[in-house]
Amino acid sequence: MQVNAGKIVVLGTGGTIAGKAGTAGDNIGYVAGQVGVQDLLDAVPGLAQAAQGPLVVEQIAQIDSKNMEFCVWAALARRCSEHLNDDSVRAIVVTHGTDTLEETAWFLHSVLDARKPVVLACAMRPATAIAPDGPQNLLDALAVVNAPGAHGVLAVCAGAVHGARQVQKMHPYRVDAFSSGEGGPLGWIEEGCVRLAQNWSQTQAGWALIALEKIAIDAPWPRVEIVMNYAGASGAMVDALVRDGVQGLVVAATGNGTLHHALQAALERAQQAGLAVRVTTRCPLGQVLSLPGVHAALPLAPGLIPVKARVSLLLELLCA
Ligand code: SIN
Repeated sequence: MQVNAGKIVVLGTGGTIAGKAGTAGDNIGYVAGQVGVQDLLDAVPGLAQAAQGPLVVEQIAQIDSKNMEFCVWAALARRCSEHLNDDSVRAIVVTHGTDTLEETAWFLHSVLDARKPVVLACAMRPATAIAPDGPQNLLDALAVVNAPGAHGVLAVCAGAVHGARQVQKMHPYRVDAFSSGEGGPLGWIEEGCVRLAQNWSQTQAGWALIALEKIAIDAPWPRVEIVMNYAGASGAMVDALVRDGVQGLVVAATGNGTLHHALQAALERAQQAGLAVRVTTRCPLGQVLSLPGVHAALPLAPGLIPVKARVSLLLELLCA
């Protein structure tokens, strides 16, 4: 076994991976974020060997990720940045709930210069389950950390490693809950080894580095909401949000960025009033293809699902 002197820092934030149910057979009626991150690691057989070096833990938060807040993101980004700049640290693993994992992955990818691996590990079954998936996902996260050339913000679940841009939760129950869409995952983890299907490097990492400075001085986060196009849509929601002081709007449009005429008109009014508006599609695969005659009025957020487009707009406004 190769021993690497660099530390791996494991940052705990809660989630089902740290969840507890009343009975071992219960995979859904549990409370997330109950088991401390040190206890999670202590329960994994063979973890020390898989780490190939010292492990250090920090509990950043202990939440169900449906309740993710900007203050937790801020603390997480700060600690990740400090550890990435520390020569004695070679990698970071973040334990996280699955429900908003893709948002945190995209947030960290955007604000960090992750020349080292930052791997989000999660679980669909609580720690108390008859067959919990968290321990294997933690071992797999360490395999990713130790894979040659690994870097950037990554997510590990059910034997697959995903990039921050593509990863998306696709299933509310199955252990294999995540997908990277049409491109597939970056690779797979098999018996402690990573079999890569694609290159590690991802586009535009750290594009919002300046946001970290704003976060450090506790600059107020802007308010950005998501609205959706659907049969019978109107502009009422947009008008109400504008009256309520929202600063940015992401719209999950239909198909190739199409909008009900009433919603389109309300969004254009909002934009004229100074709000930042971004158009995405509610289609789970593919991206909106720009069509000048159709998409001239409202800017697109190409290739981003609505929740990630919202993260990007939040950071854009935070940096403005
Ligand atoms: C959570 O997101 O914290 C709960 C659900 C999960 O981790 O699967």
